[in-house]
Amino acid sequence: MTNGRQRLQDRVAIVTGGAQGIGGATARRLAEEGAKVLIADVDAAAAAANVARIREAGGTVESLTADVGKHDDIRGMVEDAAGRWGRLDVLVNNAYRVQNPEASGGAEEVSEGAWDEGMDVLVKSMFLAAKHAVPLMRRAGGGAIVNISSVHGLLTAPGALVYEAGKSAVIGVTRQMACEYGPAGIRVNAICPGHIVTERIQERMWDANPGGLRFFEQQYPLRRCGRPVDIANAVVFLCSEEASFITGQALVVDGGLTIQLQENLGVHLAHYIQEHPDTQLPY
Ligand SMILES: NC(=O)c1ccc[n+]([C@@H]2O[C@H](COP(=O)([O-])OP(=O)(O)OC[C@H]3O[C@@H](n4cnc5c(N)ncnc54)[C@H](O)[C@@H]3O)[C@@H](O)[C@H]2O)c1
Repeated sequence: MTNGRQRLQDRVAIVTGGAQGIGGATARRLAEEGAKVLIADVDAAAAAANVARIREAGGTVESLTADVGKHDDIRGMVEDAAGRWGRLDVLVNNAYRVQNPEASGGAEEVSEGAWDEGMDVLVKSMFLAAKHAVPLMRRAGGGAIVNISSVHGLLTAPGALVYEAGKSAVIGVTRQMACEYGPAGIRVNAICPGHIVTERIQERMWDANPGGLRFFEQQYPLRRCGRPVDIANAVVFLCSEEASFITGQALVVDGGLTIQLQENLGVHLAHYIQEHPDTQLPY
């Protein structure tokens, strides 16, 4: 794992939802950069598989079953990392997966319970994780927190009130905490990924519809969607000394999706469909 310089040598990091997807790749990249990593995830089997993969590559990693929708689990996760390795330098708040069908839709459809449940995992988890992590980071002389938002935190779409509101709140939480904890040397940033083709998304959306993915990619100036490692690399950067003057930012990692005019995009997509009439639209 020592391919020359390691940017996070001996740092201690927690990655929530670190079993797979973006969090999985982030746990692997942090370990490659020398960090000791605690994966906190509800999926124990997937976490164990990622732990095995990281250890195989020579990294230092442990996992803990924790639901970031629950305060006790968050407290336990921070105590576990600190108890094991004596400090905490990096916290990556990444865990989320839409579970409850009542979280879909707009205000008329979303149930109050699904709203509360979604906000607990998407937003409240970040407040509670900071509550327990910040005192340890102060003690270590500083630290880095990275909150995973989305391009949906900047722009919005119908059909998912909880997700859109939650991801935009993540950016507000990030800015407030950056102001609050900057004096303690704790940097807090968010990342806004575009569509990232994780293992699960590949299987669920694209395995049966590769033409749909090619169409989807046309929305991106770089003509591809993201890979989990694209976000993991941005996390490593934001946690490293190279980002020591960056805080309170929402770093957009989206292949250019959000910088183009919609009217140009609309025409491009119309041409694409004309040229590829068999395209099966993703949704
Ligand atoms: N994949 C994308 O296109 C995309 C784009 C923008 C933002 N994001 C965000 O990135 C993050 C990761 O998404 P992903 O696509 O890698 O998801 P994923 O479903 O592949 O992985 C999510 C991981 O989080 C875990 N998890 C879910 N709820 C949890 C909870 N309450 N407590 C602890 N662990 C929990 C799951 O078990 C899983 O291991 C999410 O916050 C998501 O909203 C994803």
